[in-house]
Amino acid sequence: MSSNRHILTAVAWPYANGPRHIGHVSGFGVPSDVFSRFQRMSGNNVLMVSGTDEHGTPIQVLADQEGVSARELADRYNRIIAEDLVALGLSYDLFTRTTTGNHYSVVQRLFTTLHDNGYVFTRTTKGAISPSTGRTLPDRYIEGTCPICAYDGARGDQCDNCGNQLDPIDLISPRSRINGETPEFTDTEHFMLDLPAFAEILTEWLKGKEEEVTASEPSGDGGGRRVGWRPNVLKFSLNLLEDLQPRAVTRDLNWGVPIPLEGWSENANKRLYVWFDAVIGYLSASIEWAERVGEPDAWKRWWQEKDSESFYFMGKDNIVFHSVIWPSILLGASGKGDRGGEVGTLGELNVPDEVVSSEFLTMEGQKFSSSRRVVIYVRDFLERYSADALRYYIMAAGPENQDTDFTWAEFVRRNNDELVAAWGNLVNRSISMAAKNLGEIPAVGELTDEDRAVLADSKAAFDTVGARLERSQFKAALQEAMRTVSEANKYISDQAPWALKKTDPERMATVLHVALQLVQDANTLLTPFLPVAANKVYAMMGGTGTWTGMPRIESGHDTIGDSEEKVDYPVITGDYADNDARWASTPIVPGTPLSRPEPLFTKLDPSVVDEELARLAGDTE
Ligand code: MF3
Ligand code: ZN
Repeated sequence: MSSNRHILTAVAWPYANGPRHIGHVSGFGVPSDVFSRFQRMSGNNVLMVSGTDEHGTPIQVLADQEGVSARELADRYNRIIAEDLVALGLSYDLFTRTTTGNHYSVVQRLFTTLHDNGYVFTRTTKGAISPSTGRTLPDRYIEGTCPICAYDGARGDQCDNCGNQLDPIDLISPRSRINGETPEFTDTEHFMLDLPAFAEILTEWLKGKEEEVTASEPSGDGGGRRVGWRPNVLKFSLNLLEDLQPRAVTRDLNWGVPIPLEGWSENANKRLYVWFDAVIGYLSASIEWAERVGEPDAWKRWWQEKDSESFYFMGKDNIVFHSVIWPSILLGASGKGDRGGEVGTLGELNVPDEVVSSEFLTMEGQKFSSSRRVVIYVRDFLERYSADALRYYIMAAGPENQDTDFTWAEFVRRNNDELVAAWGNLVNRSISMAAKNLGEIPAVGELTDEDRAVLADSKAAFDTVGARLERSQFKAALQEAMRTVSEANKYISDQAPWALKKTDPERMATVLHVALQLVQDANTLLTPFLPVAANKVYAMMGGTGTWTGMPRIESGHDTIGDSEEKVDYPVITGDYADNDARWASTPIVPGTPLSRPEPLFTKLDPSVVDEELARLAGDTE
């Protein structure tokens, strides 16, 4: 693997419609952070960007319900979400928002190029409008009687009773789910993105990925190849290409990026579709980041150079936008597709290398639902438990490859058995024995075969765990890292250094040296998963400086939404590039002073399970 790769970690943009719950962050949040930390430790140049996704009907509807403007709602949740994500230790280089002046201008530049190249065209369709507001009423906000099975609760897009896909205009006695009024079906003109014009080039791109994946399997440890689309994601994406239709990229709504064309921009009630603008956020956030660091062209290294790589992290309901729509926008704006065209003002842009999608997390057997209060918000979770404990659970037992249920019983079990009893205990017993008996990291004497074997095994884990992380196989990576922890615990129990104090102090020192080296290695392997604990262990072992950087909130300065006034808004950023953590076994230095360690994790009483279940039940009343 060549080092110094340029890696874009593109993290799905959370809707600014509420605080984040643990289902949200298990899909896009923690996996993308583990990946980025690992890549930085490997010496690569990572740019990790995202922000809040602030346009669209759901946000407008919620704002109306609360009697505030969409802008006010977006301001509120942009801040709250940024705080949630910082508390989880997610190491964004920039987490911004989709309402900035910079974002508006990048979106408009791409739209203009697509228009110039003929990849967007207008079409008049019958659209459902709310008569009281004049706004587009999206299909799923319309309900009525199913024309096929006569079920009364059918939605405009589909009937949950007979399972048929529907067209809202065919519903019998349609009504708005927002306010009960009868929608009006009127002629409305919209811009369509010509997806069929990209069918061929997209198919070629995805088929290429399929071949690379097949070629790089099944070497077991990954063999250092970086190709790692999850097969279900690739299959799903290829399927989508079978039947591509032009797709509307504008809406009748007054909250969104204005359409940058004469005759359209004047119309306050026509805006670009939220998904069209949101995916462009990856690029606009990269540009904003480059401005912030005072190197306005720096973003190009990740977006225009052919040897850079991009990894997109999201939940599975986002796949179509990342494997079809976003690549089409990028290709069309680069003059590629059936209609050819010119390269736009932002240059020729790279399409995603990998779409890393997670499945869904449920909560004690139920779908997360803020309205039904089947939910645990990140903020509330972190008031009672540590960020590392949540990160650990998500990566060890989260929805990496299939829908997965969060249970408090399993959370407590993993916290107690794996974090406290296995890893915490290894750190604690090794450092405290050495601190108490020797006060420093001891020099190593002659090594036995057992010493050599366990050290070699620990060192070898960097390749095996690294190959897993490279392919976003987080569960397998974490399991392998935790295996080295059990081996180390077993080593200490077998060697029983406490029994050697009187009989063979030299051998005791060597055993403790080996144990501390194993702690150092395991801490490095676990750093992407448990950054807070990793920094503590680093300090306990006498490290100075920053081992792995933590994010912080700063402010950006730009216009927000339609307002022309520039204001400050919160962004997440951090210093991660010059951190000490390296993806390698670093020899410990004899003579480094050691003090008695603080406990790393908190053991949870089993009564926590009942308390939390009662809280959940109480909230649903
Ligand atoms: N807001 C969307 C969601 O939560 C994700 C947007 S991702 C982006 O499902 F691609 F649009 F940025
Ligand atoms: Zn039906």
